Amino acid sequence: MSSSRTEKSILDLRSLEKTKINFLFSLADQLASNSSLTSKGFGKTGALLFFEASTRTRMSFETACARLGVYPLLLDGKSGSSLEKGETLEDTVLNVAAMKPAFVVIRAGEDLDLYDIAEKISCPVLNAGWGKQGHPTQALLDAYTIRKHLGTCEGQRVLIVGDIRHSRVAASHLELAQKLNYEVALCGPVEFLPVAPTVKVFETLQEGLKWATVAMTLRVQLERHAAKYSLEEYRDQYGFTVQNLKALSMKSLILHPGPINQGTEMDGEVLLDSRCQVLDQVSNGVLIRQALLHEVLSEGEL
Ligand code: CP
Repeated sequence: MSSSRTEKSILDLRSLEKTKINFLFSLADQLASNSSLTSKGFGKTGALLFFEASTRTRMSFETACARLGVYPLLLDGKSGSSLEKGETLEDTVLNVAAMKPAFVVIRAGEDLDLYDIAEKISCPVLNAGWGKQGHPTQALLDAYTIRKHLGTCEGQRVLIVGDIRHSRVAASHLELAQKLNYEVALCGPVEFLPVAPTVKVFETLQEGLKWATVAMTLRVQLERHAAKYSLEEYRDQYGFTVQNLKALSMKSLILHPGPINQGTEMDGEVLLDSRCQVLDQVSNGVLIRQALLHEVLSEGEL
């Protein structure tokens, strides 16, 4: 994030400096313990444009706005907006940007080019989950959760299990791992893995779990796979079940970005496991997004 408004955009993690990431984590620590660091946004608006479904990301950005005193201009799905009348996604963003919000948060598919949008509007754009491209704030909140519970991200061994080929969360972790010096390995059915993986791949979940200090499973995108896969077989081989997780050290963490298909990639009982920090990930999502917005509102002239 630099002095220019558009350069403050967060579209991926390749372009975010390690020092800035560590600063955001320190700010999130402060925000967790000192709610007085919150009044950067009074009199300002922030546009939250969610063209695709979301619970955690949308509501945590809304919570962050409330804590910072920013009024959120929320577009929640296409229903009820002029998208229903045929307006394009890009026109929608340009028109909302013309109302001069302090920032625009966007969740969209790959039919919208966020890099192009960031060039065309004069306020920062924050990627809130973009197609398969990336979900930078999710990876940041995951890393913040790892740092909080294991002391540091550096040197951790993060096993990502499941539908990696279609996962924007995995894509962002592969970028963030380079910045924060943690190792990522993958595990899943061959059809779920990248065509040419650039990191270690474990053939069995048991091997991967023995290696990992953090085990993260991803939502099986049932809309893509349910017809082609036996979900019972998937659960047996790759599911985070009480039985399968016996291979994971008691000092390790269990994460899931949500939403969870309980009984497919993770059993409900696992949420009660002392290693499982799924709900803390959600709480930390508010802190990280609040820290990011605090920075966007603090730097330069808005
Ligand atoms: N993890 C995540 O992005 O969840 P939502 O889709 O509910 O925002």
